[in-house]
Amino acid sequence: MRFLVINGPNINLLGLREPSIYGTQDYRALVELVAETAKENGFEADCFQSNHEGSIVDEIQKAYGVYDGIVINPAAYTHTSVAILDALKAVAIPFVEVHISAVEKREDFRQVSYIRPAASSTITGHGIEGYREALLFLQNLLAGK
Ligand code: DQA
Repeated sequence: MRFLVINGPNINLLGLREPSIYGTQDYRALVELVAETAKENGFEADCFQSNHEGSIVDEIQKAYGVYDGIVINPAAYTHTSVAILDALKAVAIPFVEVHISAVEKREDFRQVSYIRPAASSTITGHGIEGYREALLFLQNLLAGK
């Protein structure tokens, strides 16, 4: 099994960015957590981060036929991007939506997620651990458990 972890704008600034909301662990720690989770559980996982909506769409398109599942935190694009939703639906790869913060407890504009209706699951507010949970969820889903 091979999974792709996609992170949107400003996730590269983890650790620096609003640590009271997003924690003190940086993006490198997130990438290491993904690699460790993959190794421990016998699957492959690659990470991609971009601050650009079109690059995220390109990466989702390229995932077709390559990856079995996607973990995606579109960050601010969660609340605005029909293009990312359409790309995810186009490739029809099962995906889990992750948010580091508890978006449901934050501003009104964060209450909308364009991708949520198409997601196999959504994980919010578990910090970077949420990515591990999402990967394991996908592994179980694809194993038919
Ligand atoms: C976020 C929540 C979004 O509202 C915000 O724009 C982000 C990060 C999260 O992981 O909690 O950039 O997706």
